[in-house]
Amino acid sequence: MDEAYWNQRYLEAGFAYGEEANEFLKETLADISTGSILFPADGEGRNGVYAATLGWQVSSCDLSLEGKKKALKLAAKKNVELEYQVGDLKDLTYPEESFDAIALIFAHFSGDIKSDYHDLLKKYLKKGGYLIFEAFSKNHLAYNSVNPKVGGPKDLATLTSLEEVKDDFKDFKIIKLEEMEVELNEGNYHIGKGMVVRFIGIKK
Ligand SMILES: C[S@@+](CC[C@H](N)C(=O)[O-])C[C@H]1O[C@@H](n2cnc3c(N)ncnc32)[C@H](O)[C@@H]1O
Repeated sequence: MDEAYWNQRYLEAGFAYGEEANEFLKETLADISTGSILFPADGEGRNGVYAATLGWQVSSCDLSLEGKKKALKLAAKKNVELEYQVGDLKDLTYPEESFDAIALIFAHFSGDIKSDYHDLLKKYLKKGGYLIFEAFSKNHLAYNSVNPKVGGPKDLATLTSLEEVKDDFKDFKIIKLEEMEVELNEGNYHIGKGMVVRFIGIKK
């Protein structure tokens, strides 16, 4: 999916994945002290804005300018600030080892670039920093074919697995790594049962 696809989605009325933050992110941030956090592929900003309301210093980025516009509106509504860059993650730069946490929430990259993008992000994380990750697993295809309203990528290579996450983040201390069925109720595009991989890791 390219920039035009995401801009078109975010030009629709309302918030594609809702204004509320992702449940797994909320649960995870409840247990971590605030600091600086990066949200790659933050779209309309529901997750970055939520973290900012908790007192995190938030940097977000996404391919979509329309996503950024919505995110800044949501931030204004919640009286928080968001630093938000627009572009492909690989073309954006952040200082190395500068974030206390990085949260990848449904930040699906295609199979040929996924591991390279994860490598890039690892560089931006401080030692001792948290990587928070939730994405649809390869086993999600069966859910999507029964209920397209749950959304998610439709090609296996873009979807993830426990093995892939373990391999991409093998240099991390694993706090949580699981594949599980979830009931999503996120805006218009994540509705119903799905299968996700959830990971919390600490950079060694
Ligand atoms: C399913 S949406 C999830 C948005 C947000 N993380 C959320 O949970 O509400 C996926 C997002 O990934 C972004 N994206 C995909 N590839 C990207 C890339 N290479 N660089 C930056 N953003 C990207 C898209 O623009 C889109 O906003």
